[in-house]
Amino acid sequence: MIIAVDGPLASGKGTIARALAAHFALPHLDTGTLYRAVAVAVTDSGAQPEDAKAAEAAALALDIAAIDESRIRSAGAGVAASIVSAHPGVRAALLKLQRDFARQPGGAVLDGRDIGTVIAPDAHVKLFVTADPEVRAGRRHAELINRGEQIGFDQVLGQLRQRDARDASRTEAPLMKADDAVELDTSAFTQDEAIRAAIAIVEARR
Ligand code: C5P
Repeated sequence: MIIAVDGPLASGKGTIARALAAHFALPHLDTGTLYRAVAVAVTDSGAQPEDAKAAEAAALALDIAAIDESRIRSAGAGVAASIVSAHPGVRAALLKLQRDFARQPGGAVLDGRDIGTVIAPDAHVKLFVTADPEVRAGRRHAELINRGEQIGFDQVLGQLRQRDARDASRTEAPLMKADDAVELDTSAFTQDEAIRAAIAIVEARR
């Protein structure tokens, strides 16, 4: 069983994907970490995320085992990730790895922006997780403050709107709901409620 979980940032898709993986005993890949790691590698090399050649080279050289979680989770890495992820060469470089993960025997859960549309169009269950921008900005703000970042709510909301626009408007694999995806709006849900709703959707379709 392949479960595809897509949606904008801080929609709850990561939490839901992890919970589904635990519930159904499936391996899980958070594909955003790949783009974040490419972004960090590009900036470390002294290049700008806008530099398509440098970004593609970093994507081709990506070593998943060497990804440093403590560095890729910053607000800056998220913004840079949304820039490198728009380069077609970067997406092509990361495609096989994601497809191989999805197609391992026994199945998998993947979360991102284009899992149900590009990476695993044949997924058995597709969830498109959404929430109002203000709700998402509130969640992301709390998360960043928790990590010790000094950042205001308005700045988080501004970055979120920019990233949403960039993810939805790029020509290559833009963020969009697959025709056969089930939309789950988590705006009014606690984490537990969102997880229960997602499990119910999967149970009904498996
Ligand atoms: O989900 P997360 O915020 O970690 O993703 C960081 C960025 O990586 C997103 O803003 C998006 O631009 C990009 N991304 C993508 N396709 C995916 C996952 C993430 O383009 N499947």
